[in-house]
Amino acid sequence: MLGNFSYSNPTKLYFGDDSLKYLNEELPKYGPVVQLVYGGGSIKRNGIYDSVIEILKENGKTIVEDSGVMPNPTADKLREGAKLARENNVDLIIAVGGGSCCDYAKGVSVSAYCGEDPWEKYYIRFEEPDCKIIPVGCVLTMAGTGSEMNGGSVITNHEQKLKIGHVFGENVMPKFSILNPKFTFSLPKRQMVAGIYDIFNHICEQYFSGDDDNTSDYLAEALMKSVVHSSLIAIEDPENYEARSNIMWTATWALNTLISRGKTTDWMVHMLGQAVGAYTDATHGMTLAAVSIPYYRMIMPYGIKKFARFAKEVWGIDTREMTDEQAADAGLEAMENWMRTLGLTMKIGELGATEEMLDGITSATIILTGGYKVLTKEEVKQVLAESL
Ligand code: NZQ
Ligand code: ZN
Repeated sequence: MLGNFSYSNPTKLYFGDDSLKYLNEELPKYGPVVQLVYGGGSIKRNGIYDSVIEILKENGKTIVEDSGVMPNPTADKLREGAKLARENNVDLIIAVGGGSCCDYAKGVSVSAYCGEDPWEKYYIRFEEPDCKIIPVGCVLTMAGTGSEMNGGSVITNHEQKLKIGHVFGENVMPKFSILNPKFTFSLPKRQMVAGIYDIFNHICEQYFSGDDDNTSDYLAEALMKSVVHSSLIAIEDPENYEARSNIMWTATWALNTLISRGKTTDWMVHMLGQAVGAYTDATHGMTLAAVSIPYYRMIMPYGIKKFARFAKEVWGIDTREMTDEQAADAGLEAMENWMRTLGLTMKIGELGATEEMLDGITSATIILTGGYKVLTKEEVKQVLAESL
């Protein structure tokens, strides 16, 4: 491990099928007004809403409802939520949902008192908050993004055709998150597998970089093996608690900054996926799946040893008789087969992207430099074209 780093994560987690009751331990730490953030209604259908409301009422909270957070939350919604928080003097924001609700809650927490347009300040100019920040807690209902234990907040601006993430610091990360794997049972299969691929890709983004011997890479391999193993159980038996709990826990550790310690990181699949998302509003995990294979085929020659190691360590391929190139190919093929078994969308064309959009998506793709190869704009377009 050759990189220098600091590590700290302030989010307290409560994990397990009885974890919601720990809301009773957290709520007394905050003032009386709670902004309850949720999405399009899944929590009303599966009963989580009623359970949360009951606990909030038992704790004497005044509830400010903030519903209708859409998948891929928008800048317009963020502005509305910030106004709601400010006008009601909210003391705590509780997000009950997936990454969209958690990301949005963090966005609202830094926007209520920022005194200017939050989209411009945080997502265009990438400034840090210099105002009062409202604390956030999460009750997670979908495993994938890791938003429950990180500072990420991804917002979409449809007018500008941009989808941009700001990774805020420790002061914005959730104060606590409640992780009950049973809350994910009601997810439609498509959302479940999109979340599973999101987890896997978060790990890839941090794994495919660097060439030093790094503990972070060994941790990444273990997490990848666990999520692949559990995913194959969960697609056959979605209510398998053991599999769903492992998926939920790997999601958290895949993106709470642990496995990026001492490394540069890639994140180009996410940059491509976010640009596709800005044009299509497609499900996040599916946008990643659709661009991944062409992207990894393109960068593989520049990180061949790591791709060969991926084949052996993650996919259990006997690479002893193979060249690095053969092993790397076999690893990527195993990954693609697994993705097809899950039923992931493998083409951006199936997510609504068209040939006419390619130039726009290309220019909306932010090019990062931490991976094995820095792409040119032409190469970005080539990856997208191969995925059409
Ligand atoms: O809105 P409701 O009705 O709740 O339905 C949601 C939504 O339609 C549904 N859902 C969630 N839990 C459910 C459920 N349906 C039934 N039962 C349940 N238990 O699932 C749909 C998708 O939810 P969403 O929150 O949008 O999914 P996800 O967790 O994948 O979050 C996606 C957002 O997170 C961002 C993405 O870009 C996207 O905007 N990301 C955030 C990251 C971070 N904070 O670090 C990193 C990620 O890479 C990602 O970019
Ligand atoms: Zn992601």
